[in-house]
Amino acid sequence: MSKLNKFITSSSIIIVILLVANSGLLSKPLEAGNPKNGQRMFEELLCTNCHGTRGEGSSAANGGGPKLAPDPAPLSVYLELVRRPRLNMPPYPEERASDQDIADIHAYLKGL
Ligand code: HEC
Repeated sequence: MSKLNKFITSSSIIIVILLVANSGLLSKPLEAGNPKNGQRMFEELLCTNCHGTRGEGSSAANGGGPKLAPDPAPLSVYLELVRRPRLNMPPYPEERASDQDIADIHAYLKGL
């Protein structure tokens, strides 16, 4: 194999490795939500302040969070809206609530 060919072959291998590493194929998938931890996080992160202790929602004077339970929107919607709320809800970045915490909260609300 010529030097140039060797260089091209090894570069392509490195590029493929980088692509796979970045594609999310190697990242850990979310585990099934744990409702017990979800309840704890729902209280600890003060979701309860605006959405009620059992996700029943509250009046405008109490933060005006809409009703979340029973029948919460799908988890994909939760992951999006908790990170980037539409209006008055404070955003929760990854440092405060991991994707797994949000999945756990979702499991808690689903079980109510
Ligand atoms: C300061 C009050 C407040 C807190 C704290 C809060 N929310 Fe909200 N939330 C709202 C309001 C108000 C909305 C309506 C959309 C908006 O104004 O951003 C909302 C919307 C949502 C929605 C979308 C529901 C829908 O039907 O559109 C979800 C899901 C949600 N909140 C989950 C949470 C979770 C989970 C937490 C805790 C990690 C939390 N919220 C903390 C006020 C709050």
